[in-house]
Amino acid sequence: MPEFIPMISEEEIKEQTREVGKQIAEDYKDLDLVLVGVLKGSFIFLSDLTRQISIDHEIDLVGASSYEGTSSTGQIVFTKQPDLELEGRDVLLVEDIVDTGQTLSKIVEFIGLLNPRSVKICTLIDKHERREVELEVDYSCFSLDKGFIVGYGLDYNEKYRNLPAIFDLKL
Ligand code: IMP
Ligand code: MG
Repeated sequence: MPEFIPMISEEEIKEQTREVGKQIAEDYKDLDLVLVGVLKGSFIFLSDLTRQISIDHEIDLVGASSYEGTSSTGQIVFTKQPDLELEGRDVLLVEDIVDTGQTLSKIVEFIGLLNPRSVKICTLIDKHERREVELEVDYSCFSLDKGFIVGYGLDYNEKYRNLPAIFDLKL
């Protein structure tokens, strides 16, 4: 039976999301913010974060998938393109977790082809240990050295996204 060790509580998530949302609203107040959530893992974080950003902004989604089980396949497949016109706009990518950085670096490259004015990164979790590419994470709610976590949108083989808090998964 897998074991779920509590790591980050609902309260802590709420508090950090509020802080990051406030900072984003301040930083983008004179810009043209478009939040672009990375499917599927960011959907819960995105829905909470957008409600903590008090300035006008728009929301889009990009679909990319790279993972099977707990180790990367090294391949990334785009499953959804953004719908909005991003040219000349200020894109903030919203991700659940940055691990090796491979997924986001390819998404940043792809979004760059759409000629936005700026592209920055906001992640719920910044996981350092296995970083393979140099990637500047502009906003993160939590840092993690290692481990595999689930809940609040984060999955293991598509399960456990529904858990309201974040747990360390021991298989
Ligand atoms: P990267 O390309 O290695 O940075 O992988 C990023 C993606 O891997 C994330 O968007 C997640 O879908 C998945 N991932 C990486 N670490 C974890 C984890 O600890 N729990 C759940 N998913 C993870
Ligand atoms: Mg995933």
